[in-house]
Amino acid sequence: MTVRFGGLVALDDVTVQAQVGEVLGIIGPNGAGKTTLFNVICGFVRPTRGSIVYEDKEIPRIRPNSLTKRGIARTLQGLGLFPKMTVLENVMCGAEALAKVGMGPSVLGMARVRREERDLAERAEQILNELGLSGFGDRIPSSLPYALQKKVALARAMVSKPKFLLLDEPASGLSNDEMDELGQRITDLKGSAGLLLVEHHMDLVMAVCDRIVVLDFGRVIAEGTPAEIKSDPVVLEAYLGEEIEGENYGPVVSSAGES
Ligand SMILES: Nc1ncnc2c1ncn2[C@@H]1O[C@H](COP(=O)(O)OP(=O)(O)O)[C@@H](O)[C@H]1O
Ligand SMILES: [Mg+2]
Repeated sequence: MTVRFGGLVALDDVTVQAQVGEVLGIIGPNGAGKTTLFNVICGFVRPTRGSIVYEDKEIPRIRPNSLTKRGIARTLQGLGLFPKMTVLENVMCGAEALAKVGMGPSVLGMARVRREERDLAERAEQILNELGLSGFGDRIPSSLPYALQKKVALARAMVSKPKFLLLDEPASGLSNDEMDELGQRITDLKGSAGLLLVEHHMDLVMAVCDRIVVLDFGRVIAEGTPAEIKSDPVVLEAYLGEEIEGENYGPVVSSAGES
């Protein structure tokens, strides 16, 4: 795909391929086009050129409102939670809309809507439990510590049981312990899904990704296993002058001449 914003080429003939059972890392300096790539996959941004092939079918354009139906879910860079809804309501929003109201106000129809809503609430609660958030369902997101709010955002993406889960900087703002827990969760999730991970924390990326695509100025400059990417001079060059986050990446930053 190619994406142009006016004169700016955010993605320049980029191809990525993801599959269930795999964590695909997408890394690159700020402004490289990582979020734009997610936005195209989710239908928020229309590519100037290119298309998405999903389960062997070419999809001219994915509509944001059909994402969960297709089995795709994402978390946003930052939190993107609904501030006036409770934690439970936020998570429930991640599921396909309760759109059976079109059946009309028959007693049977209403009963069905209620049952579906109850089932969804149960599933949302179950995921909150899994993530260690039981008892927080009635809270307003902003009343929770940041790390827990990140988990609410993850729960919202997980509630639709997606086949593909797109995570945009899920580790930002987390402590090392919280990041380890997230890494474990990502590894667990790939048992049932394909994950696309945009992340600046290289320790996490290298630990959980099966493959990594490196973007720079909208182009793929490298692609390979974590071991290959780690030692690729082209990648290190692209990151010069930019802080790479991760305990084991100090030397890269200092070789960039940063104080
Ligand atoms: N909606 C938009 N309109 C105009 N420019 C945009 C838009 N979204 C992103 N960009 C630009 O596209 C480039 C890539 O941005 P982005 O995909 O957010 O990068 P990354 O997530 O890798 O930091 C940046 O130069 C950014 O300013
Ligand atoms: Mg981004």
